[in-house]
Amino acid sequence: MEEIKIFCPATIANISCGFDVLGVALDSVGDEMVIRKVPRKGIYITKLVGQDLPLETERNVAGVAALALMAESDYEGGFEIEIYKKIKAGSGIGSSAASSAGAVWGINQLLMKPFPTSKLVEFAMEGERLASGVAHADNVAPALFGGFTLVRSYEPLDIIPINSPSKLYATVIHPQIEVKTSDSRKILKTNITLKDGIKQWGNVGGLVAGLFTEDYDLIGRSLIDHIVEPIRSILIPGFDDVKSKSLEAGALGCGISGSGPSIFAFSKGEDIAQKVALAMSNIYKNIEIDYDVHVSKFNTKGIKILK
Ligand code: HSE
Repeated sequence: MEEIKIFCPATIANISCGFDVLGVALDSVGDEMVIRKVPRKGIYITKLVGQDLPLETERNVAGVAALALMAESDYEGGFEIEIYKKIKAGSGIGSSAASSAGAVWGINQLLMKPFPTSKLVEFAMEGERLASGVAHADNVAPALFGGFTLVRSYEPLDIIPINSPSKLYATVIHPQIEVKTSDSRKILKTNITLKDGIKQWGNVGGLVAGLFTEDYDLIGRSLIDHIVEPIRSILIPGFDDVKSKSLEAGALGCGISGSGPSIFAFSKGEDIAQKVALAMSNIYKNIEIDYDVHVSKFNTKGIKILK
């Protein structure tokens, strides 16, 4: 195989209680990339459509992730990368992760899969380091593994794939304001109280148990963030109303997607997820902020080959 065209899913990181450790891949939102072998050694970003992002390899998240892989490969040739962005940068649904994960996954396929998926996560994390200053894995892991994932440990990296309940749907609204992950990390406190820690890890355990046992009520009870959401939500106009109206419309839970400004809700069944989309949209219509809204199942496969 000389060339590959792939779909790279958008992802929701944190999932309320799991800051930097929980994430999930979406089914119907994502970027496309074309990666091809070239004789000249190196990584060349030859096309970037849909967003104004750097083409220089060292300044591009896909470029640095690919370079991290190449540093551990003895392949003598190089790769051209074309990126067709559908996920807006700074939207909170894993734009940099889709490009970083797509680059390393596609190259690994063209090289006949020398690296396991867990190693690809490590390479893709270098893209996240460039984007946000921190090599977090909670977007790239679900993009590469598919479905829900838990980063049980960063050192050493230990990614645990988690079941995706069949009737679970996500609604994601993206108010058209940009919140840089690097900025929304700077405002976080570096210490938490033991009391908040106890509440938070109770919910992480509850959410993971609820996902495995497909206990939708338990999933709903666990979608609470005592640590990050109270601080970051002030950056998102309308957040409290979106959350309360989503819950009124029947959502199991609602929170900030990644570092925002996108807001996600989980619902049991597509009908409720659509009602939640309407309730969320009405808030931004009233406060006159443009938005995109998506209802999506979860993508259990991760990155997919398109041709
Ligand atoms: N865990 C990261 C953060 C995700 O919240 O900063 C960024 O998408």
